[in-house]
Amino acid sequence: MKAPIRVAITGAAGQIGYNLLFRIANGDMLGREQPVILQLLDLPQAQPALRGVAMELEDCAFPALQQVITTDDPRIAFRDAEVVLMVGARPRSKGMERKDLIAANGVIFSEQGRILNEVAARHVKVLVVGNPANTNALIAMKNAPDLAPCNFTAMMRLDHNRAITQVALKLFQPIQDIKKMVVWGNHSGTQYPDLSHAEIRGRKVIDVLRQNGWEGWVENEFIPTVQKRGAAVIEARGLSSAASAANSAVAHIHDWMLHSHHNDWVTMSVPSDGSYGIPEGVIYGFPVTCRNGHYQIVQGLEISELGHKHQLDSHRELLEERELVKHLLGN
Ligand code: NAI
Repeated sequence: MKAPIRVAITGAAGQIGYNLLFRIANGDMLGREQPVILQLLDLPQAQPALRGVAMELEDCAFPALQQVITTDDPRIAFRDAEVVLMVGARPRSKGMERKDLIAANGVIFSEQGRILNEVAARHVKVLVVGNPANTNALIAMKNAPDLAPCNFTAMMRLDHNRAITQVALKLFQPIQDIKKMVVWGNHSGTQYPDLSHAEIRGRKVIDVLRQNGWEGWVENEFIPTVQKRGAAVIEARGLSSAASAANSAVAHIHDWMLHSHHNDWVTMSVPSDGSYGIPEGVIYGFPVTCRNGHYQIVQGLEISELGHKHQLDSHRELLEERELVKHLLGN
């Protein structure tokens, strides 16, 4: 029998947590044969709810679920964790400005980054979901100097999946036939959903759109729909995306740890390395392929002038966010 993997989840009593834990325990993320120990963190006031979720997990009798730990102490939650999903973050309250939210969450992610540095497994893989996800991931990474920076990522998979579905719906084609989508940049309104490399059964999606006289759809509908999808879900549901966010977190870690991408890629926000003219120092959505537990940024894609402008707009926003938290980034 395989050794269990310790998976830590912060904000585990929240709505994404409720949609995430059962998928992980069921084996959707690491495989049904892989035993897992769930180490669930939430605030002191959320502990009763968290214990209720743990009871429900027990009641599912998942064969791969070896143990559930609930705690309000990040040191207990992160100890020896090999996978950490950082979902817990402060929501925006009434009258709170974006910069106040960034600062409030920055404090959480700097503290949790320091604790990860002390107690997590040295090869821990971290996915930040809590917003502003890219900047929170940067803060956690900078506060964990003993861990490899490449192991800190932020979630763009939901944006990636949203983009694929919009194309599949427009062309009335199966989801699985749409390949090579990418959403560059920040998980925010400045993100750049880019279908110029996307293919459908070997043909460029853009050519199919052109053939139908639908070129205008890309800038006028596709890009804004994907960019504003989160807000549209909030408007319709009265709550932010939860099941779809959890699904994307499961897919992000699954692909990073287990998948070998062949003739396709996924979007992950990872520390920039200068690729595509995005200088080091931000966590940015790039197309990546994964193999043997490592990701690699896809190189050599041709970017149009307009596309590069979109890429830089999102980069600029990340620099602004970074400026707001620079006191939390160490040196
Ligand atoms: P929620 O409010 O239902 O749950 C958040 C949980 O985090 C709560 O249980 C809260 O007590 C906990 N929490 C707050 N501070 C904490 C701390 N310091 N340590 C541990 N736990 C803490 O929120 P929901 O809907 O689950 O969303 C969580 C985050 O994910 C939000 O920041 C949201 O904006 C973000 N999100 C990100 C997406 C992405 O694609 N990157 C998509 C959807 C949501």
